[in-house]
Amino acid sequence: MSKVLLEAKDLKKSFSTAAGSLDVLRSINLTVNEGESVSIRGLSGSGKTTLLQLLGGLEAPDAGEVLIDLKSQGLVSPHLHLGHGVGFVFQNFQLMPELNTLENVMLAAKILGTPDAEFKARTLIESVGLGSRLNHYPSQLSGGECQRVAIARALINDPTIVLADEPTGNLDEATGQQIINLLLGIVAKKQMALILVTHSREFAERTQRQLLLTKGVLSPG
Ligand SMILES: Nc1ncnc2c1ncn2[C@@H]1O[C@H](COP(=O)(O)OP(=O)(O)OP(=O)(O)O)[C@@H](O)[C@H]1O
Ligand SMILES: [Mg+2]
Repeated sequence: MSKVLLEAKDLKKSFSTAAGSLDVLRSINLTVNEGESVSIRGLSGSGKTTLLQLLGGLEAPDAGEVLIDLKSQGLVSPHLHLGHGVGFVFQNFQLMPELNTLENVMLAAKILGTPDAEFKARTLIESVGLGSRLNHYPSQLSGGECQRVAIARALINDPTIVLADEPTGNLDEATGQQIINLLLGIVAKKQMALILVTHSREFAERTQRQLLLTKGVLSPG
């Protein structure tokens, strides 16, 4: 039997707005096994980014619990181990504009004191096909190239799980295919688990399990 890597139990999240409380996540239950890939689709505004932030420990739920097994320490709450074991590919990249490609990817490793940061960063940048863009700043890169830098950065600390928030959003069909091939290829090779948020049914079907987020709950999709 596969080992459970991530477990979300009855997560709830609301935002208070001028118009009252907005109940975005009503009851989220999700279990992801080691090395498993899962996709989540849902309408814009359905709460996909909010959910990934809770799963990665970037935000706290109002109720419920997220547990992640980071490097076989047993199941722990992800906010206690922010950056360790979880690789996040943000919807809008979140690259540092004043850092070049190499520096952006190395930064994540330096923050955690990961050894051999530069060698690892160069290897990953090469593997995402940007070996000739090491010294480019984000403003000098195309959208697809920024996305690939963001993927390299998410992988540099050898996460056990990668949370990717619409990594093909705003990309043309061919570049989107390339990004998905790259991401699925790397996580499979390194036996990482993946939660892929996407609007594309085609990309979703390339993961092992497809889920749909509707009205604050997940269902098979
Ligand atoms: N900090 C916040 N305060 C108030 N409302 C918020 C906040 N963050 C998100 N929301 C609202 O919660 C809902 C879910 O937002 P979220 O970004 O999770 O959606 P999404 O499914 O990722 O959408 P998209 O596909 O457009 O990226 C939206 O209606 C949004 O307006
Ligand atoms: Mg989103």
